[in-house]
Amino acid sequence: MCGIIGYAGLSPALPYLLKGLEQLEYRGYDSAGIAIMEESGPRVVKSVGSTARLKERIAGEQLPGSVGIGHTRWATHGAPSEANAHPQWAGPLYIVHNGIVENERVLREGLVADGEVFASDTDTETIVRLIYRTMKGGSGFSESVRRVLSLLEGSYSFLIAHADLEEPLIAVHRGAPLLLGACTHGVFVASDMTAFPVEVHSTIPLEKDDMVTIRADGRFEIISLAHSREREAKLVSRSHHGVHGKGEYPHYMFKEICEQPEMLGALLSGKIRRENGLLNVRFAAETEKVLSRARRIRIVGCGTSFHAGLLGKYRIESLAGIPVEVDIASEFRYRNPILDPENDLLIALTQSGETADTLAAIRMARASGVPTLALVNVEGSTATREADASIFLEAGPEFGVAATKTFLSQIAILTLIALRLSSDSRLAERTGLSKGGILEAFLKIPMLLDKSLSLSTGVTGIARRLAESRSVLFMGRGGDFPLALEGALKLKEITYIHAEGYAGGELKHGPLALVEEGTPVLSLLSPDPQLVPKMVSNMKETLSRGAFLISIGSDHYLDEFSPVSSMSLSLPDCPPVLFPLVAAVPLQLLAYHTACFKGLDVDRPRNLAKSVTVE
Ligand code: F6R
Repeated sequence: MCGIIGYAGLSPALPYLLKGLEQLEYRGYDSAGIAIMEESGPRVVKSVGSTARLKERIAGEQLPGSVGIGHTRWATHGAPSEANAHPQWAGPLYIVHNGIVENERVLREGLVADGEVFASDTDTETIVRLIYRTMKGGSGFSESVRRVLSLLEGSYSFLIAHADLEEPLIAVHRGAPLLLGACTHGVFVASDMTAFPVEVHSTIPLEKDDMVTIRADGRFEIISLAHSREREAKLVSRSHHGVHGKGEYPHYMFKEICEQPEMLGALLSGKIRRENGLLNVRFAAETEKVLSRARRIRIVGCGTSFHAGLLGKYRIESLAGIPVEVDIASEFRYRNPILDPENDLLIALTQSGETADTLAAIRMARASGVPTLALVNVEGSTATREADASIFLEAGPEFGVAATKTFLSQIAILTLIALRLSSDSRLAERTGLSKGGILEAFLKIPMLLDKSLSLSTGVTGIARRLAESRSVLFMGRGGDFPLALEGALKLKEITYIHAEGYAGGELKHGPLALVEEGTPVLSLLSPDPQLVPKMVSNMKETLSRGAFLISIGSDHYLDEFSPVSSMSLSLPDCPPVLFPLVAAVPLQLLAYHTACFKGLDVDRPRNLAKSVTVE
């Protein structure tokens, strides 16, 4: 989604803005623009398409101005075009904006009736025109911003620059994420910290209703509009872990897939502890508190996070015996779910911590008195601030739009939660293993992921076949069913091949009609003695209709699934409850290599954004 970067300080702003915009590309965008406050007057450059194109447009210009704003736009109000790209302006005011002003149409109609002539279709232009009109009525810059805020409905943030004044920048957080970044020569404002240069040593996450006035030398003041007073800036020192670009990898997605064994190893070593000689799962005190009183768990998430939630349901219900309901967050918030503050715990899955629908679900739960736990990858994100407790995914920054390592971390943590809440007797009954035995096996999963990663020859063979397909069916049973949904999502989002995931048992109830000569059907087979024969019989059903059968299963059952498959990958054996962790990797690689064979932009699939901050 849209990205904001701004700077005020002692150095020229331009290089920082251009670099920041490049760093924000991963969020998804269709146009970009900057405005630099020069002594001779503001210089605005906009371009549709890549930030590289924006750079070309400005190449060779000497722009020493040390105050500037920049934006990557993902179109909501109005098509991607230069006119609609930000910054938008009115008089000496230049604005970049994220989120949506919901009552924009009414406000715009009022302005048009008063004679304003608009140059774009954006709600952003409405904001800047309203502020400028208020200033022309005699109010100062910051007073005008405040007055206009009282007219705007919706969830948004903006950064507005004034060409003439001592205090040239005002940043406003009204629900869309915004941070300040402090360094020795000035201050940065951005919608996420990846846009900050390395010299930013500390960040200050802004809170909803914060308004920041920034002076030309980088000094600033944060006012909480909710409390009508200055707010102390809480500096968070910045970790540079993982912000190193693509390195030798051709794409971020491939790099992020390959980082998973190390990431998982570090995550598990922090959560699985040896106490009195026995392995156990431990979370931070506030997480333990909300988990211990849960009698029913409600999980919400969108897209990949929703799929992780479904897998969590399988694990928590089976291993811990606690009922779990899983909802797509955008459905949950509008379907009047019955929430029970005495018994419920809401677990919100959101790697970005900024997904609008998931945040709305957290707010609904809190308003009903239901405790909330967020599983989040971005520290300081809105979800971590609003939920009662948070568990960090510890996946490091993820720049590929397709979630990979954050999904793995989500399913690992949900499995750990299931194990934490399980009793030894129930666990032994369900898995035939003690808690210690399962946790020992869990600690070996990073090593098995390394082996999964080394299957790349087999994977590329399958990917070559998939690249020629129009439609692919994924199927699995038990925990492999959510994984089938996720495998299909990965494939469709980066290869644009139609793909659907089904529960194996559902095939005969409709989807089998889709199978014709050569249709690829990819089956997932956890080493579960009860489910493998059922899956093999589902595979045979599709085979007799002409399916091209691909299977990904555990080594242990290779003799069962390989003879019926045209192509198969066998994965190292592990307890069935841990199999999706190992099988997620080849599914990600399959999508990745298929997209590469098709020559597509793997890291930035069309129409998609990394962080969906609007409904
Ligand atoms: C797909 C993907 C999306 C996100 C979804 C929710 O690869 O990444 O489906 O999972 O947009 O995002 P978060 O987890 O940030 O709430």
